[in-house]
Amino acid sequence: MRKQNLFTGSMLLLIMIGMSSCGNKKEMVTTENFGSFDGKEVSLYTLTNNQGNVVKLTNYGAAIVEVNVPDRDGNKANVTFGYDNLEGYVNGDPYFGKVVGQFANRIARGKFSLEGVDYTLALNNFPNALHGGPTGWHSRVWTPEVLQNTDYPAVKFTYDKPDMEEGFPGNVVAEVVYTWTDENELIMDYKVTTDRNTVINITNHAYFNLHGTGNGDILDHEALIRASAFTPVDSTLIPTGELRSVEGTPFDFRTPHLIGGRIGEEYDQLILGGGYDHNYVLDNVEEVDAEVYDPSTGRFLQVITDQPGVQLYTGNFLDGTQTGRGGKVYQYRSGFCLETQHFPDSPNQAAFPSVILTPVEPFLSSTVFRFGVR
Ligand code: GAL
Repeated sequence: MRKQNLFTGSMLLLIMIGMSSCGNKKEMVTTENFGSFDGKEVSLYTLTNNQGNVVKLTNYGAAIVEVNVPDRDGNKANVTFGYDNLEGYVNGDPYFGKVVGQFANRIARGKFSLEGVDYTLALNNFPNALHGGPTGWHSRVWTPEVLQNTDYPAVKFTYDKPDMEEGFPGNVVAEVVYTWTDENELIMDYKVTTDRNTVINITNHAYFNLHGTGNGDILDHEALIRASAFTPVDSTLIPTGELRSVEGTPFDFRTPHLIGGRIGEEYDQLILGGGYDHNYVLDNVEEVDAEVYDPSTGRFLQVITDQPGVQLYTGNFLDGTQTGRGGKVYQYRSGFCLETQHFPDSPNQAAFPSVILTPVEPFLSSTVFRFGVR
């Protein structure tokens, strides 16, 4: 009888553990109010993985707000730029952690033609169009959905872009699913569809500082980029069309180099870019396309993508005027970006991989930000 009770008791316990882990699963994503914009509700989503590491997202600009990961001694810090509140996002730097579209990076003089029709975009980075225009996808409230029955915490954001908004043809539907795995991987799965031919280039514009944001610059971080060539730019940061070998240049990160090691060299492209602000032509042969490692904390970020390019941007336009989450001030070169993408100005560069999106086939793409220590 006693045995029976014990058995029943342990069955009950198992059932309760089962129930509570289901319960935990649901609570892997919590939602709180973050204000409203354009008559739409904006929320802050907190995703917690089974290591207790936290990523925060918002549906304003489909942005990454925080990534909290341990250093090699287990001390956690937020390593990405963001703002404390929605006002910060609306009035501050437009791109921190945002999903950028419909065309990430620059289009020369804001003009391109598609099937014989000329399109004109706003010149928000004179003389060029930048990051989908002044009210591109980064400045929109996306429709949120906390995904259920997933293995890891996951949130989907959807933006329905009306035909010709910001000058781009097509009723376009853009989706990004963020998944935060137990291995500290932030996966971004993109799907974009259109009802007529258009151009697409989508990225996430997160800035990182692996010391923890607000703690010095990123010149002492070591970068590895598996790219044998990059796309040199003119004085307005538009690719010239050349694919230049990195061999023998300060752009060669095929073996790890400090970001700051060669950034001050008198090399034409470093002068034009004010530092690194260039698209790399990825070799796309190994799993990890790029890695940045901070020797002082042991933290690394690996970037894995199916896109043909990645923009290494070393925060050359940051100037200390932005105060972000937790009162951290973002100084010159205090953050780096690895923006996975198609090459800038592709609509005007026939030799670059095509960026044309048709109603026949959706644009599907994935990028992973994997965090770790060593
Ligand atoms: C980057 C771009 C930089 C700068 C930055 C936003 O993607 O390459 O030139 O515009 O965005 O400040």
